[in-house]
Amino acid sequence: MAANYANEFDRRLNARYDELKWLYCELYQNDEQGLEYLCGLLKEYYAKRIDSLKEIDRKREKNPDWYRGNDIVGMMLYVDNFAGNLNGVIDKIDYFTECGVNYIHFMPLLESPKEHSDGGYAVADFRKVQPELGTMDDLRKLTDLCHQRGISCCLDFVMNHTSDEHAWAKAAREGDAQAKSRYFFFDSWDIPNEYERTVPQVFPTTAPGNFTKLPDGDIVMTTFYPYQWDLNYANPMVFNDMTENLLYLANAGIDVIRLDAVPYIWKELGTPCRNLPQVHNIVRMMRMVCEIVCPSVLLLGEVVMEPSKVVPYFGSTEKPECHMLYNVTTMASTWNTVATRDVSLLRRQMDKLAELPHNYVFLNYLRCHDDIGWGLDYDWLKERWMEEIPHKRYLNDYFIGKYPGSVSRGELYNEDQILQDARLCGTTASLCGIEAAVYSDDEAALGLAVDADIMLHAYMFTQSGIPVIYSGDEVGQLNDYSYHADINKKFDSRYLHRGRFDWKLAEKRKDPETYQGSIFSALRKLEETRAANEVFMAQAEFYPLETGSPNVLGIFRQYGAQNLLAFFNFCGEECVLRFEQKLTYIDLMTGEKHHTDAVTLAPYGFLWALEQ
Ligand code: GLC
Repeated sequence: MAANYANEFDRRLNARYDELKWLYCELYQNDEQGLEYLCGLLKEYYAKRIDSLKEIDRKREKNPDWYRGNDIVGMMLYVDNFAGNLNGVIDKIDYFTECGVNYIHFMPLLESPKEHSDGGYAVADFRKVQPELGTMDDLRKLTDLCHQRGISCCLDFVMNHTSDEHAWAKAAREGDAQAKSRYFFFDSWDIPNEYERTVPQVFPTTAPGNFTKLPDGDIVMTTFYPYQWDLNYANPMVFNDMTENLLYLANAGIDVIRLDAVPYIWKELGTPCRNLPQVHNIVRMMRMVCEIVCPSVLLLGEVVMEPSKVVPYFGSTEKPECHMLYNVTTMASTWNTVATRDVSLLRRQMDKLAELPHNYVFLNYLRCHDDIGWGLDYDWLKERWMEEIPHKRYLNDYFIGKYPGSVSRGELYNEDQILQDARLCGTTASLCGIEAAVYSDDEAALGLAVDADIMLHAYMFTQSGIPVIYSGDEVGQLNDYSYHADINKKFDSRYLHRGRFDWKLAEKRKDPETYQGSIFSALRKLEETRAANEVFMAQAEFYPLETGSPNVLGIFRQYGAQNLLAFFNFCGEECVLRFEQKLTYIDLMTGEKHHTDAVTLAPYGFLWALEQ
């Protein structure tokens, strides 16, 4: 058997070598020695890759569209919140099957300092699991078990920076020149000040500036938190060693590598240091590296930017970069629609997505571990008399429950009093009004909030790409306020929606009389229906429909012989939609056939109508 694959590595390398060499030499001033070292690494990691993973590589290499189907449903979770540690997750593996998910994003689990961890995004060792969560062997055991169950595993690759506790940072602090050259070190503020002229700030309130002065007087670049030191990818050693770290994770059985904060990885004086052309060259090289060593592995780019900056990370057909990207603008526009009940912005967003090549795969989500940043199309909103600052203030007031009549319960994130800017945190259920209804024991309000929650999930499942459920959302988990009492968390409101998974409450998923049960069974039905109908394939044609109601979003999808009309009512009142002529369809959620020229959508209701 093995003999058939004797030249597999050479074949893959040869097919890409010229381009790899060209990009590497361009970026690293013809550093042929560095390139040779890199190729040596590729060979070594291919040799070390275990047979079962190589089998997956071969299967997926033959079927490169494997992730473009309608049968992948994701979930993202924190190992400790979900089950204590990696072995706990292994014990709970049946739950994934029960939820119908076959793609799991395990949130950062590599070694990271207790106090300064940024939720694990300050990595102190890329080859070691956080001891409380287990060991690398446990991770390998988990990914192997997941593969046996048909589940793909995603892990973050925090490539922009390391923790200041990483061995490179420690050595740099001690004056090791080679280690210092992996970061951006300065002995005066002259150059940092030059950078500050053109580089925006990520966390203006909690971490002002892009540089941090160390106790010994050195100044180091820290785009995110002061304890996250930016890596200098202009140094080929950084690229080579970080590529090795990536391959190490791939060989531990990780199927999807999330390229954390990827737009930031290349810095150039006099520029905003975001999305520079060199970033794309690096991502392209990492894509080729994976195609050579581990072609089953996908790259998921975390590009939380305006749409025009996001799409280039897919690369081109000849020179692809990321396999998948987050559908961040749709996520933010969805919540905008919840607050305004006006679907026009979301409709415009659907129009824009419809124009993109349908082989692009987006990762669709309602909530993730981060805040909701209001990255909306303000030029367009302005034409409709909605100015950015007052509009953001309205959204934030609405979602923190301050706006009269709002049932949302969120908290602000990174509020900037001067710029009057803030982002937003909270779980889907709490933002939809479930929390307020539960605490006020208002059954009617609870019913509406649950319907809103389910409708939003239905909309997420209608979008092309991979839907990812935020762990806990499947049972309507509420905000967790306990972080306010934790000194290491209290200044970061993202912990509001990073609560411990409550297994006792989750038991209620089996009881249809509870809201947990209603949401859980509705999500299962949505998943099964999506998987059973090819019209939900990522490559389907789609476009928004005119519904005649400002509150109802309509989407038409077509694939193969199936046509789907989908409607989502974003307001708390019933809405009647009238068609120009009678339509025969099957309601995919009830299985009932209808022949009618009008449909009534319940408050926060939705309809998946399969044309007959
Ligand atoms: C990404 C992560 C976020 C983290 C940041 C810095 O944006 O999603 O949680 O704070 O990177 O690593």
